[in-house]
Amino acid sequence: MNQELDGQVALVTGGSRGIGLGIANALSEGGARVAVIGRNGDRAREAARSLTGEGHEGFSCDVASVDEVTAVVSAVESQLGPVGILVNNAGITRDNILLRLKDEDWDEVMQVNLKGAFNMTRALTRGMMKRREGVILNISSVVGLMGNPGQSNYAASKAGLLGFTRSVARELASRNIRCNAIAPGYIETDMTGELDEKQTAALQERIPLGRLGTPDDIAGVARFLAGPAARYITGQVLAVDGGMVN
Ligand code: NAI
Repeated sequence: MNQELDGQVALVTGGSRGIGLGIANALSEGGARVAVIGRNGDRAREAARSLTGEGHEGFSCDVASVDEVTAVVSAVESQLGPVGILVNNAGITRDNILLRLKDEDWDEVMQVNLKGAFNMTRALTRGMMKRREGVILNISSVVGLMGNPGQSNYAASKAGLLGFTRSVARELASRNIRCNAIAPGYIETDMTGELDEKQTAALQERIPLGRLGTPDDIAGVARFLAGPAARYITGQVLAVDGGMVN
């Protein structure tokens, strides 16, 4: 059966688990061959083997390192072919109240969440521009839209991604490259696994749809935004959050 992403190569950062793995899986179900990027190469390769269909590969790379990004992009393109879909999903938290935030908490979050997306996007857009085709998808957060006490570094990085998304969309639209962002609400992954029952119940009260999200809730939207049904959508931020932000 023909699928809408047949023949496409997608690169998903932080694709070994959580939301990134969900997105990698959805893109593979859409027919794309997926390069799963993670800090741990073994886990990335294991995740690649778990995807639907053939031709997926796992690669180790710290997205915060320009050298590692340059090397991995060249390895991915020589093994899988030109990348047409980039998903900047890798992200970390280093939470603390403002007065207790250390310099390194601020810097590490910016390096991975914001600089990492820039590193990957810059490395891949030259090829996309030549081919006059490409899709970039940045995974931001509702925290980037609303703010959150104890997450000023994380919120700033995720809000920064939105400015980056809108600028890249305007800059590259004439080359038929689309750039959008998803702002997930609270999604059940390792990142939110540390919440206790009381915190989870309090959160659920703030979510009109009455439950935390799952990686699949994000993945289906990512597949839509990556595919031809979204061909006229660029520069948008889509909150996928059970109705928290509106
Ligand atoms: P997670 O912690 O389960 O997975 C994050 C992935 O990113 C891991 O595979 C990790 O190895 C990878 N990663 C971290 N630093 C990296 C680096 N320097 N280089 C390469 N890979 C790196 O997190 P989760 O929940 O799946 O989050 C994925 C994205 O979604 C993140 O950007 C996160 O900020 C965002 N998000 C998550 C929400 C949630 O409720 N879980 C809500 C809103 C946004």
